[in-house]
Amino acid sequence: MYAVSFADKPVIRSSRLGFVLSADSTFYKGFVLRGIETRSFDSSWKPVWGEVAVIRDHYRELTVHLQKSSGAAGSAAGLRLDLVFRVFEDGVGFRYVFPKQPGLNYFIVGDELTEFRLAGDHKTFWIPGDYDTNEYPYTTSALSAVDNRALVASSTAIAVRVAPDAQAVQTPLMMKTADSLYLNIHEAALVGYPAMQLHVDGRALSLTAALVPDAVGNKAYLHAPFATPWRTVIVSDKAADILTSKLILNLNEPSKVANTDWIRPMKFVGVWWEMQTGKGTWNYSDFADSVGVDGRPVPNGRHSANTANVKRYIDFAAANQIGGVLVEGWNVGWEDWFGNWKENVFDFVTPYPDFDVRELTDYAASKGVSLIMHNETSGSATNYERQMDTAFRYMQRWGYTSVKTGYVGKIIPRGEHHDGQWMVEHYVRVAEKAASYHVMLDAHEPVRPTGLQRTYPNWLACEAARGNEYNAFSDGNAPEHETILPFTRLIGGPMDYTPGIFKLRGYSSVPGRQVHTTLCKQLALYVTLYSPLQMAADLPENYAAHRDAFQFIRDVPVDWEDTKILAAEPGDYLTIARKQKGAENWFIGGITDESPRDLRVSLGFLKKGRTYAAIVYRDGAGADWKTNPEAYTIERLTVDSKSVLSVKLAPGGGVAVSLMGIAAN
Ligand code: NOJ
Ligand code: CA
Repeated sequence: MYAVSFADKPVIRSSRLGFVLSADSTFYKGFVLRGIETRSFDSSWKPVWGEVAVIRDHYRELTVHLQKSSGAAGSAAGLRLDLVFRVFEDGVGFRYVFPKQPGLNYFIVGDELTEFRLAGDHKTFWIPGDYDTNEYPYTTSALSAVDNRALVASSTAIAVRVAPDAQAVQTPLMMKTADSLYLNIHEAALVGYPAMQLHVDGRALSLTAALVPDAVGNKAYLHAPFATPWRTVIVSDKAADILTSKLILNLNEPSKVANTDWIRPMKFVGVWWEMQTGKGTWNYSDFADSVGVDGRPVPNGRHSANTANVKRYIDFAAANQIGGVLVEGWNVGWEDWFGNWKENVFDFVTPYPDFDVRELTDYAASKGVSLIMHNETSGSATNYERQMDTAFRYMQRWGYTSVKTGYVGKIIPRGEHHDGQWMVEHYVRVAEKAASYHVMLDAHEPVRPTGLQRTYPNWLACEAARGNEYNAFSDGNAPEHETILPFTRLIGGPMDYTPGIFKLRGYSSVPGRQVHTTLCKQLALYVTLYSPLQMAADLPENYAAHRDAFQFIRDVPVDWEDTKILAAEPGDYLTIARKQKGAENWFIGGITDESPRDLRVSLGFLKKGRTYAAIVYRDGAGADWKTNPEAYTIERLTVDSKSVLSVKLAPGGGVAVSLMGIAAN
């Protein structure tokens, strides 16, 4: 058993630890204590990229050596298990270590029994514990009210939903207690093991680890020695501390990529929103299995990834200091890519006839822009594993330095899940393979991140949550959505949310579709939703209509020296200021949910004695996400560390501010 308290208040009551193993179905009792070790650690490290330039890793560690007593049944007698606890100022991490030992060499985990018994019926921000997706909208409820059935049933815009336990939720799980403690439960360093979801017992107010099973119902196949991922509990009486916690990163291994000079955070655009909104298509033809009289596929005339159109995006990127252009739908296979559980869909090296890779590579290079590769696997991980070296050699041949992968659909190996052990190992293999070819990675539909970006800094971002794209193909994301994400999904790592939509209504042929934010809130997301990879997701023509507001997207960086959380409450509002790495410039993003708010931002974090040229992008008079989302006002001011900004946020609104240091003379 273990327990966690914060300032003498119980946070986790005495809770069970242990396993059901193939080698011992009671690997949770009958242990004797063989010894303990303690140590302290305090050191700092520099991430290759991040929200801050330097991270302090400071903890006390306790290792507990356990052994099954000699009276234990059968062959279990004498088996050993170690528990390692690390206590930080902002929380706790613990993991199980199976030492190398006779009698426990290769073994199967039937269940992990880790419990988190809570001290109350906390306010909880949750999505269903689904084996295949994290793309649900959040529900805020009392813990005891968790029941995911209605949400799972109604979420038909999500391609694959497998949520057999009505009381299961995903992590990072964010909670707030009645006396205003903020708790976040997640895991760190998920490698070689399935994702941990949590089963809620609403009566006992306890959470139990629910590992995502494999095709035959087992949880994990292990070979000792093996250390499980860390189970993490971040605790504070300030919401801001949850956001600044570096506990998850600190519990991950240092970079395995020795030379990281080639890894560069960047902004990108792409022929993407065209397809998401139905203006264009990924597929070249509308027929999967027939050709024209000339024996060739019949073009549908709406294929976005054509050479001329991609050049238009390259020109736009070059003109606006945007580093990358993502091209989806460039390779053969999109006619029947999805929904057939088909194993060999794409080969990742054969372009459609209207996509001239040589011409585009040369053109992009001449403009100083990188093309971003797209490898949609449609869930067929086996096919991708077979093609991966070929795919990365193709990227190398044509100068692609980053790839966006995707896993839409049911997984192959058939019966496996996106969040099971097999796929967890697959995502890491892809990150390692990408690193060996000096390619940066953005994975869509993977398991949610657990801080592995420290170990694989080329793994810039993941989706693994409900992105802006849901505003294109479903009823969309509620105005509170982006105030919850930083406290939940982003605790594990950066998200490729694809912000920056300027045309917030009338972009879809489906009536009623609209983005549930104002234009200024889309700008603020570049600061509040941290990622080293940020898309400017809208179409060039929609940016051309608001060149003055687009200036913020041109200016905002994607790598930071420092971060200050100025105001935060999950589900309600969030204001963050970040300092550009290597420059005396700051950027502020402030967002609200559906409620309007008055924001006062004191600029005390600016360098004393320095003046800054500020541009404030704020919701205009009468702005409202629903009725008037595109109203904004831009104001230019000179400010210093004594200045205070007062801003009104519209319902679903936001504010973005750039503060460029004026050289002292
Ligand atoms: C879903 C991804 O989230 C989206 O970004 C992508 O365009 C489609 N899959 C097609 O790969
Ligand atoms: Ca997705």
